[in-house]
Amino acid sequence: MLIWSWAGQYCRPSSTTGHQMGPLAAGRRLVACLLNISEARNRDAVEKVARAAARKRHGGWREGTSVLNIFSDRDYNRSVITISASVESVETLPAVAGEAVLSACEEACRLVDVRNHIGVHPCLGAVDLIPLYPLGEDVGLEECGIEARVLAARLTELVPGTAAFYFGSADMPLHRGLAQRRKEIGWFRKTTDLSCTQPDVGGRPQSRYGLTGVGASPYVMNCNVTITTEDLSIGRKVASGLRESTPGGLPGVQVLALPHKGAVEIACNVESVQGAPPAEHWPSFSVGGSTYYHIPASLISTRVAELAGQHGVDMEGALLVGFTPQECRLLAEHAISQGIGEYWREQHGARM
Ligand SMILES: *[C@@H]1O[C@H](CO)[C@@H](O)[C@H](O)[C@H]1NC(C)=O
Ligand SMILES: *[C@@H]1O[C@H](CO)[C@@H](O)[C@H](O)[C@H]1NC(C)=O
Repeated sequence: MLIWSWAGQYCRPSSTTGHQMGPLAAGRRLVACLLNISEARNRDAVEKVARAAARKRHGGWREGTSVLNIFSDRDYNRSVITISASVESVETLPAVAGEAVLSACEEACRLVDVRNHIGVHPCLGAVDLIPLYPLGEDVGLEECGIEARVLAARLTELVPGTAAFYFGSADMPLHRGLAQRRKEIGWFRKTTDLSCTQPDVGGRPQSRYGLTGVGASPYVMNCNVTITTEDLSIGRKVASGLRESTPGGLPGVQVLALPHKGAVEIACNVESVQGAPPAEHWPSFSVGGSTYYHIPASLISTRVAELAGQHGVDMEGALLVGFTPQECRLLAEHAISQGIGEYWREQHGARM
């Protein structure tokens, strides 16, 4: 498990290694949803949203589901809730994974009014992002894409005034990526007027809910690196040097430079890329018979340090938000086979 380290290095506490897999874990079909909501400063509201995923509407734990992590960033006023769910067959996919995520979204819509959002991170929705990631060999991307569409349709029915756009495998037939969709919709601009937006599902978005991105893709890690400057223009240069689209950029890496606590944060979305890993130590996994790899987080921080150094700026620290795909799968298997609905509580705040 990677955690923040002031020395700017990643460290791996021994307590998370050696998880014993329960007998039920093998063969479970697992998905993860890294639900992004536009609230962090009201801790109680964030925990209520997480609880709605883990518990059934009328009490009791939701079987086959665990909330693995809550990552709240107060400056951004944004939280990422990692929900994992097991699905025993294709038919039960909407019933298990979907129900947990849907309940959490409903609760977020009740508690978060994005009209009042204050925070430097861009966002358009009270529930800003619902990405579904297959966690293992036996759940396919296409299946997750269909599930994402079902989820979006049900959310817009249950909470009138919500609206969503699709990305990744849910964006049929184009399969446009999240960054592209966000650009098209104006997510990166703070002042986007949603009344002119045509959502993929739902009617005209009501301003209290805004617009939600719903989709499926291979796992995306979030990895943020802080550099010791307040000069956002340096941050932007570092960000553009990292971007996949820049020559010498890093595969699968999408980057934003944001002001954060008197420094600049290089916020990276690290996508998993299809194919064999370019180097032996790059982590890889397989989904639906295809191999995917992602760049190790340590290489991102090394590259940020290099690029920042060219501007006379140091790297302050690096942080993985949530888990690597491998960790997420191991923890999901562990938590679900042990019936731990709120695994995040057992982490003693290590990631907050
Ligand atoms: C955080 O954002 C929510 C809406 O997204 C808003 O209601 C709340 O007031 C914000 N918190 C602060 C302290 O700005
Ligand atoms: C880290 O970066 C992601 C984007 O990749 C962002 O959504 C998140 O809020 C950031 N978190 C922190 C604490 O910087």
